[in-house]
Formats: sequence, structure tokens, C-alpha cells
Amino acid sequence: MTDTGSAGTALVTGASSGIGRELADVIAADGYDVVVTARREQRLREVADRVEREHGVDATVVAQDLAAAGGARALYDAVAAAGIEAVDVLANNAGVPVYGDFTETDWADERRMLRLNVEAATELAKLYAPEMVGRAGSNSGGGGGPDPAILNTASLASLFPIPGKAVYAGSKAYLLSFSRALAHELEDDGVTVTAVCPGAVETEYATRGDVEESETMSGITSDPRSVAEAAWAGVRDGDRIVFPSAFASYGGQAVRVLPRKAVTKLGERTVEDGASWL
Ligand SMILES: NC(=O)c1ccc[n+]([C@@H]2O[C@H](COP(=O)([O-])OP(=O)(O)OC[C@H]3O[C@@H](n4cnc5c(N)ncnc54)[C@H](OP(=O)(O)O)[C@@H]3O)[C@@H](O)[C@H]2O)c1
Repeated sequence: MTDTGSAGTALVTGASSGIGRELADVIAADGYDVVVTARREQRLREVADRVEREHGVDATVVAQDLAAAGGARALYDAVAAAGIEAVDVLANNAGVPVYGDFTETDWADERRMLRLNVEAATELAKLYAPEMVGRAGSNSGGGGGPDPAILNTASLASLFPIPGKAVYAGSKAYLLSFSRALAHELEDDGVTVTAVCPGAVETEYATRGDVEESETMSGITSDPRSVAEAAWAGVRDGDRIVFPSAFASYGGQAVRVLPRKAVTKLGERTVEDGASWL
């Protein structure tokens, strides 16, 4: 590690593709050193090389399966072993979907998803939040960045029960609720917590469930760069929830006024013909 006089250090999970790869780039462009993590090491090296070349910051690669038992703790230890003294921004972004009717889906797949989407994100916050509280106000990097921050990639699915993707939607509802409560708890400690709630985004996410893009998706998808930029702007502003597109914002409003059963029906409609647009 070189002393680049950076704004601080950001740890981005799920940085090998999609929203996480763009988050690493957007945050690095703001002068942060980054630690990028996921399972595919070669992909992470490409991301790290790009941000170092284009933004002149330090990038550290840690390959880790966060759905494995002890995965979050192993990542925390590896980051410390790499000589990173402080994580100023924790971006809990890694997440996967599992599609299918609950009576037919494989519990092993859903348990891995819960470990990743829920347990690892919570444990990383558990490990880093106390340290962030201890440093808040001191702005360790000295580069004029925002307060220590946690960014959780939730989803518009945080707001909709989704028949056909019930456990995934439940995992994202958890993440949003957890984020909002933690934001409140840490407000006076100078640590911000932001949840970003995208609608459909063009990433590898759609293909992880062996689904094809549905006709309904055309015209409402976002690109991962715009989601990352909106999320980071929200972190800088200390926002608690970010809806990164007009479609996501509309969805967020709709659930406030529709009857509960209609909201669940709407959730059901996001999964059609074996495809999902949330
Ligand atoms: N795309 C959408 O429509 C959409 C909408 C709302 C919310 N989201 C959320 O956005 C986040 C990012 O997803 P994305 O759309 O950018 O999809 P993506 O391109 O599939 O990215 C998922 C990331 O998570 C990593 N990951 C998957 N399993 C992992 C594991 N066991 N351990 C560690 N890392 C793992 C992947 O890397 P490796 O495979 O290399 O491990 C990858 O970097 C997720 O939380 C997702 O739920 C996506």
C-alpha cells in the first residue's frame, strides 16, 4: 500500500460484476482506496487494475465466498492482514436471487442466499460499525470525504412480497429494515447508513436464475453505472434510502398507497413466464 493521501478506504462486496464493479469505480473516482471482494479473483484483479490506472488510488483484491460458514469473518481478517487499518465505507452489495415456488426451490440454494444476502451483510456491519463509531468525526483519510458510511444494496423487492421469489424478497426486506434501524441508531454517532433500492438493472443478476429478460422489462431497466452513481450520491448526502431510477421511485411510492393484497399481486407480476424484472 502506498500513501496516496486518499479520502479513506471503501470495502465493496460483490465487486467482480454489475453494480458492485461500478460502485468500486465510482467510489475510487472520488479519491477512495478500495478493497474489492467476491469469489472470482481474476475479475476482481481486472476491476482493481482499472481503478488504480484510471483514478490513481490503491486497490486491494480479496477473493472470498461470503456464503461460506465464517466467510464474513475471514474477509474481515484478510482485510486487516492486507494492512488496511480502517474501513471508512462498507458497501454491502453482494447478493443473489433464487427463483421458483417455495415448495419446489432447493433449500441449500436458499440457505446460501440467506447467508450471503442477510448474514454476511449483517456480520460485516457488526464487525465494522463499532470501529466506524470510534473514528467518526476524525475523518481518518483527511480528504474531505463524508462521514464513515455503510451502504447496503437492498432492492425494490424490499418493499414487495414476491410470490415466486419469496425468500429473496424476504432477504431484501430484512436488509432495508435493518438499514433504516441502524441508520437511526448511528445517527448521533456520525456514521451514516444508506440502503439503495434498485428496480431491474442490467447485470449478471438476471442470468443467475437461468431466466431470460421478459418483454415487460424492456424500457424499465437501469444500467449499473447509474445505480452506483445514485447510490454514492445518496451516501455523500447522508440519505437513508435511495431509489436510483424513476421506475424504482414510482414503485416505492406505489406500495405506500396500494392495499396490501394489491402490492403482493404486483410482486407476483414481476415474476412471469420464468422471468423476473425485480
Ligand atoms: N440486477 C438487478 O435487477 C437488481 C435489482 C435490485 C437489487 N439488486 C441487488 O444488487 C446487488 C448486486 O447485484 P448485481 O445486479 O450487480 O448482480 P451481479 O452482476 O450478479 O453481481 C453479484 C455480485 O455478488 C457476488 N457474489 C455472488 N455470490 C457470492 C458469494 N457467495 N460470495 C461473495 N460474493 C458473491 C458476485 O461475484 P462472484 O460471482 O465473483 O462471487 C458479483 O460480484 C445484489 O445484492 C442484488 O440483489 C440487483
